[in-house]
Amino acid sequence: MQEAVHRLWPELDWIEDPDLRAKTARVWEYALEQSALEPEELEIIPFTLLTRKAVSFMAHKRSVVHICRESARLMREFYGDALPIDMDVLIAGAILIDVGKLLEYDKVDGKVVQGEAGRLLRHPFSGVGLAMRFDLPPSVLHMIAMHAKEGDTGQRTIEGIIVHHADFMTFEPFKTLA
Ligand SMILES: [Fe+2]
Repeated sequence: MQEAVHRLWPELDWIEDPDLRAKTARVWEYALEQSALEPEELEIIPFTLLTRKAVSFMAHKRSVVHICRESARLMREFYGDALPIDMDVLIAGAILIDVGKLLEYDKVDGKVVQGEAGRLLRHPFSGVGLAMRFDLPPSVLHMIAMHAKEGDTGQRTIEGIIVHHADFMTFEPFKTLA
């Protein structure tokens, strides 16, 4: 599974701290072991059913990580020390925000459907549960917990704000096509 995760996520190499990189990869490995989905299916299943245009789960998730990194790079360039951004935390969190979705699916007669965990437990919660097993730091757990609507009523960190917007700016435009 280790190889499969590195194939899915070449962006893991952007995490400089080896301990954080290994833990981030381990969460994905474990989630894939528990998932009804095979790693290859993540590159096929659509990330949203709002459009018939085929954008895969992985294409969307990887684009979010790239947008986070580029945004942070530009923010650092323009704002310097005035806005401290932890790049390792940002990338690890961006890779992990949707890992809980791997537990949301079931397979019925070979078809991918929403399972009980998907109906009853949204992925920010299951994602934090998965990441806690591997001792990810609170700064990363926070990003998973707060990236979606559940985080709207709280105060997000700088990295949490960046990943929230990267995630939504690449999701909401698809709604206009529905
Ligand atoms: Fe999400």
